[in-house]
Amino acid sequence: MAQLQMTQLSLPPGMIHLGIGQPSPSLLPLEIMKKAAMQRLSQSDASFLAYGAEQGDGYFRATLAQLLSQSYGEAVNPDHLFITAGASQSLDLICTIFTQAGDTVFVEEPSYFLALRIFRDHRLKIVGVPMDEDGVDLNALEEKLATEHPVFFYTIPTYHNPASITLTRSRREQLVRLSLNYGFIIVADEVYQMLNYLEQAPRPLACWADQGKLLSIGSFSKILAPGLRLGWIQGTSDLLDGLIGCGLLDSGGGLNPFTSAIVRSTIEMGLLSSNVEHLRSVYSERLRVLQSAVEQELAEAVTFHPPKGGFFMWLRLLHGLSAQELLPEARSKNVAFLPGDQFSCSGGMKNYIRLSFALYEADELRTGVQRLSKVLKKVISQKSW
Ligand SMILES: Cc1ncc(COP(=O)(O)O)c(C=O)c1O
Repeated sequence: MAQLQMTQLSLPPGMIHLGIGQPSPSLLPLEIMKKAAMQRLSQSDASFLAYGAEQGDGYFRATLAQLLSQSYGEAVNPDHLFITAGASQSLDLICTIFTQAGDTVFVEEPSYFLALRIFRDHRLKIVGVPMDEDGVDLNALEEKLATEHPVFFYTIPTYHNPASITLTRSRREQLVRLSLNYGFIIVADEVYQMLNYLEQAPRPLACWADQGKLLSIGSFSKILAPGLRLGWIQGTSDLLDGLIGCGLLDSGGGLNPFTSAIVRSTIEMGLLSSNVEHLRSVYSERLRVLQSAVEQELAEAVTFHPPKGGFFMWLRLLHGLSAQELLPEARSKNVAFLPGDQFSCSGGMKNYIRLSFALYEADELRTGVQRLSKVLKKVISQKSW
């Protein structure tokens, strides 16, 4: 019998796919989940097996609010949290409730490729706004606002996927002002907020939620485990009420009450915080290894902005190379990456590739980059003929 597929990821044997942004099996926290489940399931309270409160269990929201308050250095109100089945589901629900087919939304150019897919599923018109090393270019954004009326602007403000850029504090403030002046919602995807390696994490956009039209999306996928399918949206009641009152929750109750109850124990027992510390130490070492391999092996073929957190390196290819033309040769050498055009809403970014240091250990990262270096040398030498 053919082997039954158990996870989303399925790679040919021997392939090092440097594009994949998922945690390695060694980082999936089985022991933590065992301890937390034992703690939760040994109590007599079975309420998490009932249909859950639409906004998410109140005790879980209070615990999550405490965790976020500590992490952000500012009080987070549990009433301003809505529990979801992860960031992807949050995006889908935001589209369902706030948009109609044909509406315009703005995204960064580049943006998270699977968010673009969700927006396309909702038949939205997607308009890209360029970025520089300080985040989205707000002058370009304002120019586009003269002619377009987006329902929301989707941004990944901290340790961007794929560009690894972080929006500066002053641009965060300006962006909030623009959203109020022009009446669009900021949808801030802040799933990498806690994965800072080389600096204090910036003040999240979530901290401006009370001042206006802003929804901040968080997820346990990056700080605990993606299989939990658990996340949250932070916003004022004005905006959250629309989401919480939707038919999906009226019928099915709050999202993932069982998982919420166990994840509540991981927070209360201090297991989540120690896991985040562990992830920071593992990922920062992998980033160091990947970056130095890229600097040693690819210096003549690429440039990049050094990441300070998150999962990704975004390489700009020199010599007029396009990512798509490298891919067949790369695959034949058992290495792969994600080509930049996947992250563009308009088919641009052809001369970029995304690498991730989440899935592989140090040795495999080095081997992957060495393979990539051979591929680049071969393709460049063929071009210069
Ligand atoms: C920016 C961004 N948003 C959302 C997601 C998906 O998160 P979730 O697993 O919570 O749906 C990812 C995962 O790669 C991501 O990078």
